Amino acid sequence: MKTAIYPGTFDPVTYGHLDILQRATTLFDTIIVAVAEDTNKNPLFTLEERVDLWQHEIKADPLLNKVKVDTFSGLTIEFARQNQAIALLRGLRALADFEYEFQLALMNKHMAPDIETVFLMTQSKFSFISSTTIKLVAGLKGDVGEFVPPRVEEHLLQKFPREAG
Ligand code: COA
Repeated sequence: MKTAIYPGTFDPVTYGHLDILQRATTLFDTIIVAVAEDTNKNPLFTLEERVDLWQHEIKADPLLNKVKVDTFSGLTIEFARQNQAIALLRGLRALADFEYEFQLALMNKHMAPDIETVFLMTQSKFSFISSTTIKLVAGLKGDVGEFVPPRVEEHLLQKFPREAG
């Protein structure tokens, strides 16, 4: 059984994340989306909301039937070990992601030489989106329907009600 961990803050999950996950299902037997509890990003969505948004998307997509969602705190590699995972999955967008991802992957490899980080390049149509830019646009009452699933969009609208300014 080849298990991979897909860790992230996912504040909130976007079509970019879903695309990486869908493509990775052909590479692994099981993938655990690991929603980070400790994050220095000061998330807009609570941990429970971030998990719930993922769970809804996974249930709705038969291609994702080998995917589970869980939360973790502490080191990602420890969570990976607890789940007998062989790999950490990460999406890479433009060059800007490389330095950070390279450092994270090297540190993880140093701490856990038996666990590989597998990078999938994001599709070009998602290369310019990030959870931060989506929140910025939604906060300014812009349309983010192209970038996030409808339920995530609904939840963004609840956080940034149109009538509130
Ligand atoms: N398409 C579009 N956007 C994408 C994307 C894709 N395919 N893949 C990632 N992104 C975006 C996300 O939207 C997010 O945007 P944001 O920075 O504006 O929020 C950003 O790229 C990356 O976020 P995400 O994928 O949610 O992961 P993260 O970088 O927030 O997660 C952890 C970081 C949790 C994996 C990392 O901090 C970690 O491992 N923490 C645990 C402690 C640990 O083990 N640290 C390592 C020791 S060195």
